[in-house]
Amino acid sequence: MSEHIKLKEEDGVLEITFARPDKKNALTNAMYAAACEALDKAKSNRAIRVVLFSSEGGAFTAGNDMAEFASVAGGQSGELKALRFVETLARFEKPVVAAVPGLAVGVGATMLLHCDLVYVADTAKLSTPFVNLALVPEAASSLLLPARIGHVRAFAMFALGESISGAEAVTLGLANKMLPQDEVLTVARTAARTLAQKPPASIQSTKRLMRDVTALVARIDAESLIFGDCLKSDEAREAFRAFAERRSPDYSKFA
Ligand code: COA
Repeated sequence: MSEHIKLKEEDGVLEITFARPDKKNALTNAMYAAACEALDKAKSNRAIRVVLFSSEGGAFTAGNDMAEFASVAGGQSGELKALRFVETLARFEKPVVAAVPGLAVGVGATMLLHCDLVYVADTAKLSTPFVNLALVPEAASSLLLPARIGHVRAFAMFALGESISGAEAVTLGLANKMLPQDEVLTVARTAARTLAQKPPASIQSTKRLMRDVTALVARIDAESLIFGDCLKSDEAREAFRAFAERRSPDYSKFA
């Protein structure tokens, strides 16, 4: 378990809370592992009908922990648990709801593409700045994001690092509703409880019919091969060094 993942079960809803507010809820391997374990248990627990992702401290999550990226890039540690997390989420058959009060960066934004109901605050900011970090899209976002918002907008998010506001997220079909920040979680919890009262077989079949899980997992696997190579590149090492040194990366020396 990780102290930075909190779990609460109530009225058929398992709430998984990212609880590392001093680091904008950046996700570590320990957090991914704890979230995966919770999802695995929820899968076989008939009492849990819905999963709700929430967060502490105003941000949803700043994405993968940069120090752990740097550690894989530098060869100090082997793998990232992010891959297993996104695959588990893609394969998860019960409905998933998300409450996004603020920043959702990288996997924090791409995981929303695997959620069934998404509530965002007026302070929400979704971004997927993979190219700025010399990386590539993950979590099947190279497939799902252009399908959802169109190629050019998705490319601007991936390649220019453009972010999307809460209002734009609703307009573009990435979120159901925008709310004042202090209401997002309450509304998301109410929606999750409502889903938990629906007939479970029907709701899971509906979700299954709406998604091509085989295609999603195939895309996640294809992305992860390229992502893994990028992560160990000199370009990416420069990106992670720059983040640690609080400066902009300098890619001018790369051909
Ligand atoms: N991994 C590890 N630590 C992170 C982090 C991340 N992804 N994002 C933020 N933090 C840490 C910061 O290092 C800082 O820690 P410190 O107080 O010990 O120095 C703390 O969280 C607060 O972040 P800070 O950068 O001071 O806040 P901000 O409001 O100025 O900026 C972000 C917030 C999220 C825009 C900025 O931190 C950022 O760009 N983070 C990286 C996001 C990212 O690229 N994620 C990976 C995507 S693939």
